[in-house]
Amino acid sequence: MSKAIGSRYSIESSKEAEEFYHYIKDLLDNDTVCEMKKFRHHYSTTCYQHCLNVSYYNYLICRKLGLDAKKAARAGLLHDLYLYDWRDTPRKKGEKPHGMRHPQIALENAKQILDVSKREEDMIVKHMWPLTLKLPRYAESYVIVVTDKYAAMLEIGVHVKGKIKNLTRRGDNAAKKVS
Ligand SMILES: [Fe+2]
Ligand SMILES: [Fe+2]
Repeated sequence: MSKAIGSRYSIESSKEAEEFYHYIKDLLDNDTVCEMKKFRHHYSTTCYQHCLNVSYYNYLICRKLGLDAKKAARAGLLHDLYLYDWRDTPRKKGEKPHGMRHPQIALENAKQILDVSKREEDMIVKHMWPLTLKLPRYAESYVIVVTDKYAAMLEIGVHVKGKIKNLTRRGDNAAKKVS
């Protein structure tokens, strides 16, 4: 059962996420997309979970704004399909930093598994804007710029919450031993 961080709805089985699930179902089952489960993104969140988070919030916002919610959901799921851990992948001579080059890698990987529309392509390659200098061309691309940061904040929040919980538990255990 998958859920976007911060959402209470199961993507596969809840009525509220039915349309969203329908839009991305084929991608969730794709081997290349599933490979993202092997790579850590923000702290304890995997690339797969991060992409699912961006996909879901992208979908919700674009639907609300009357934009292309289906393409927003699909591009969100593919936007970080770079398939390496940037922490232990040294940059080769002449290569741009990970933050600037991974959107293009994600696009190339996405194109290996499906046809990517112009709008989806723009969302994937511009999601790091303004770091990637070219201006986004579509409204959906501006949305993904925001949802990517929003998802990162949620993921960092989950990590910090977990740390605090552990510290509190350790403190409680130490207090029990003393008493
Ligand atoms: Fe990214
Ligand atoms: Fe991202």
